[in-house]
Amino acid sequence: MPLRTPILAGNWKMHLGPSDTEAFFEAFLARHPERGDATVIFFPPSLSLAAALRAAAGRSDVRFGVQNLYHEPAGAFTGEVSAPIARDAGAEFALVGHSERRHVFGETVPETARKTRAALEADLLPILCVGETLVERRDGRAHAVVTDQLAGVLDGLPQADIGALLIAYEPVWAIGTGETASPQDAADMHHHIRTDLVRRVGDEAAAKIPILYGGSVKPDNAAELLGADQVDGVLVGGASLKPHDFAAICAAAY
Ligand code: PGA
Repeated sequence: MPLRTPILAGNWKMHLGPSDTEAFFEAFLARHPERGDATVIFFPPSLSLAAALRAAAGRSDVRFGVQNLYHEPAGAFTGEVSAPIARDAGAEFALVGHSERRHVFGETVPETARKTRAALEADLLPILCVGETLVERRDGRAHAVVTDQLAGVLDGLPQADIGALLIAYEPVWAIGTGETASPQDAADMHHHIRTDLVRRVGDEAAAKIPILYGGSVKPDNAAELLGADQVDGVLVGGASLKPHDFAAICAAAY
């Protein structure tokens, strides 16, 4: 099914097991009527994916992904989940390079690149997360850091694969902190990312790659962030755990 923008994505991180997932969808779906002009994607913990799919069965506007994967398709890798297994379980998307993977688990750029390729090979659409730390922003290196993060993954990828990606700009200093990039800062970085994509795949293909903003998106700032130039959607952490709040964020998109 084609991806419609705006894209409203919820990254649950390590929250909501199967029973809480059921309760979440009961409340959320009642508040979020089906619409054909947006895409809602949830990233539940892997063990809650089946419950989420069941709870949202019949709602083709609600889609699912995994928060992480291992780059090998199968094998003796205790504790890991591969892209083909995630796809088979009903995931259509995969977050790659989330700042918590990079900063809490020490994921390197080459690892993020391998995960991105593994996702594409298994027909999962990767959402590549990029973003600078506060120190990098204060040092005036925000653009350079994001350029490097993009290059580490996109260099060497065929144009068709780049065209299949989604990008999420998530400034590390805004994740879970209550700090948000201003709509101008978000627009500026999204423009920078779009320019990089244009150089790689040309105007037409680059215009179709959704670029999401993430970092303390809440019901009261969602509309202005979604309205910022070049922002095609949002990736929401904390506020996506509360059915009322996430439904309000979705409503802010229209
Ligand atoms: P936050 O998280 O909305 O809680 O800041 C965003 C994310 O990590 O994707």
